[in-house]
Formats: sequence, C-alpha cells, structure tokens
Amino acid sequence: MNIDSFLYKQNSCIHFGVDSTKKMGDILFKTSASAIIACDPFLKPFSLKLKEECPQIKDIFSEIEPNPQLTGVMKLLILASLHKCDTIIAIGGGSVMDTAKFVKGVYSYKPMDIPELLKFFRQEVPFNVTSPIKIIAVPSTAGTGAEVTSVSVVSHGDIKNTINSPVFLPDICVIDPTLTLTVPPRVTMITGLDALSHALESFWNINHQPITDLLAKEAAKHIFSNLSNAYNEGRELNSRIGMSYGALLAGLAFSQTRTAGCHAASYPLSMIFHLAHGEACAFTLAGFIRLNNDERLEELAREVGFSDTNEMENYVVSLQRIAGLKTTIEDLGISDTYHLSKLCVEHPLMKFNPVQPSVTDMQELFKSLGK
Ligand SMILES: NC(=O)c1ccc[n+]([C@@H]2O[C@H](COP(=O)([O-])OP(=O)(O)OC[C@H]3O[C@@H](n4cnc5c(N)ncnc54)[C@H](O)[C@@H]3O)[C@@H](O)[C@H]2O)c1
Ligand SMILES: [Fe+2]
Repeated sequence: MNIDSFLYKQNSCIHFGVDSTKKMGDILFKTSASAIIACDPFLKPFSLKLKEECPQIKDIFSEIEPNPQLTGVMKLLILASLHKCDTIIAIGGGSVMDTAKFVKGVYSYKPMDIPELLKFFRQEVPFNVTSPIKIIAVPSTAGTGAEVTSVSVVSHGDIKNTINSPVFLPDICVIDPTLTLTVPPRVTMITGLDALSHALESFWNINHQPITDLLAKEAAKHIFSNLSNAYNEGRELNSRIGMSYGALLAGLAFSQTRTAGCHAASYPLSMIFHLAHGEACAFTLAGFIRLNNDERLEELAREVGFSDTNEMENYVVSLQRIAGLKTTIEDLGISDTYHLSKLCVEHPLMKFNPVQPSVTDMQELFKSLGK
C-alpha cells in the first residue's frame, strides 16, 4: 500500500469493557463536582442506581426520545444551568448523546429560549470550540459511534440537522456492552447496520487514509461476524461485545473521513418515508457496494470473510430481510424515484462518495435494490 501523509485527530478518553460503567464513581471523583445524567427512558432505572452510588450526580433527565428535538436540548440546558453542572453523563443511543452534545456546544452562551437556540441550529451563530461542560458518553446501542464523533444530529419539527463542530466531541466515553443486552432485535439490526454503513462508507470515502482503512476493515469484520447473532440471541454477551467494539471502530473511522452515499441518501429516505436512521442508511448499502466496487473493496470483502463483494452484498440484504426492513422501492410504495434520487445526489455528503452518481444513475441504483 502507498502510505501518503494523513491527519488523525481524536481527543476523547475511551473506557471499553464489560462492566466499565462501574468505573463511573472513580471517573467522576477525578473530573466532576456537579454532574447530571441525560438518559433514554429505558435506561432510567440504571441511571437511578448510578445516582445513588455517585454523590456528584445531582439530577436525571430522561425525556429524550428518538429523533431528538431542540425542545429537549432546551430542557436539558435549563437543568444543567440550574445545577451549575460541569458534566453531563449521556446514557443512551445516538438520540441522547446528540442532545447532550448540543447542550455542550451552546452552554457557554446560555441561550434561554428556542429562538436563541435556533440561531445555533441554523448555524447563524458559530459554536465555541471549547465549553465549560464535559460530556461522558455512555452508548446503550451498538450503532451510531456518536460517543467518538464531533457530530450532533438534532431536529426542530421536521427539519433534521447534522452539525459538525469540534466542541461536540465527548471528553470521555464509557462503553459497556452489557448495556446493549436489552436492545430489542429490530433496533439491534437497525443500529448494527448503521455501524456497518459507517465502516464501509469510511473505507470507500474520498477522505480515507491508512489508519481509517484499518479501523473500517476491523469494524466491518466484527459487525459481519456478530450482527446476526446479536439479533437472534440478544442476551448472548459475546456478540454484544463484538458489536459494541465494531461500532466503536466504525465511529473512529468515520469521525475522520465522514460518511458518503448511503448516509447522503438516508436523509431524504428518513424525511419522506420516516425510516429509522440505520434502516435508511442500510436501504442503499447493497446498491453502493455495487456502484463503488473496485479492487480495494474486493480485498476488504475477502478479508472480512466473503469470497467477493457480490457475496458481501447479498449478505447485507439477507440481514435487512431477517429483520423485516425495507429493501426495495416497492417496499416504499413508489415507482417513480426521480424526486428522491435528485435529493440524494444533491445531499452534501454525496461529495465524499468515490463515484458521483447522476440522477439517472441513482434511479438505476434504486431500481436494482433487492433484485
Ligand atoms: N452523532 C453522530 O455521530 C451520529 C451518527 C449516526 C447517527 N446519529 C443519530 O443518532 C440517532 C439514532 O441513534 P440510535 O440508533 O442509537 O437510536 P436511538 O438513540 O434513537 O434509540 C432507538 C431506540 O432504542 C431504545 N434503546 C436504546 N438503548 C436501549 C437499550 N439498552 N435497551 C433497550 N432499548 C434501548 C430507545 O429507547 C429507542 O426507542 C439518529 O437521530 C441519528 O441521526 C448520530
Ligand atoms: Fe449513521
């Protein structure tokens, strides 16, 4: 391989391992005087237990739902200000971590109403690069990699914005695969396919470099060998460990390269057809494996255990099908894909795809899905 110059930036401290959340007391003892927990409603009992064990934790906010809204950011911001917090512990999937990351980004400005917050959401006001508040990210799904990215995805009404800022990078992450044992099968598959999209899109990304290639390949290997088992035997810890590790590596890879075609297409797919993030990313994954196929991708397919990219592509579709996810445009209930295809090729993330599809190419890609 030709090793060119590259830049790799990552400043978070990563604690990975079964029961690593038991270190929270030690971590807070060293880093925090006043912390609050932002958590998924499902993780409230776990958060209450943590609060009992750690005197630094002053309160729990558990009202964050999927597709987090700016109103949730506002409520968390008010609670953090009330307790004069120096730390938010975000326990949940991407939705919880992204809400906490947005609060970190605006905390020093103290916007106290939605119109003020909207200026940041619309990026009319820049985020400070530093913040008086730290984020400890504790993922409860094996998917987004949001614990190691400087991205926050929040919505205001129907408008979903993906914002990049160095301030969003969590300071510490604690990845405890036992938290994912309760994730239901369908969410396990959707979040796992999100992580697989991160790995593959980082690998074929125009910004790929030697370290991200290593991370992306290793991520894909772990996800391909554990996802079906995590879906079928959710209580089996080893496949959950493999998925948490794979999702982390994929997050580290795309935190450098960004994503590409599948994520570009996921935005109109989620907006128009209300698909969950990972289902929307996976919808075009097989199509982009075909479109972006080259020698490097053939080599990755062999290294992760397939005979070629064709076999890898078929396996991706079989994963979508066992979880009953949508795989064809007929499943979306449409036959004319012109409008959808135009939105996909015009999305800013498409420029990171190695092949720039025309609207007609994208229509062909949609037509070929599931065939
Ligand atoms: N910031 C980033 O880098 C980044 C990257 C990719 C995606 N995202 C965003 O992340 C969001 C999706 O996050 P997600 O896929 O992790 O899902 P999520 O956080 O929306 O959670 C999905 C569902 O799983 C449930 N859940 C979560 N953990 C559970 C557990 N341990 N046991 C049982 N149920 C559990 C939640 O209650 C929810 O119903 C989307 O908004 C997406 O756009 C962000
Ligand atoms: Fe994603």
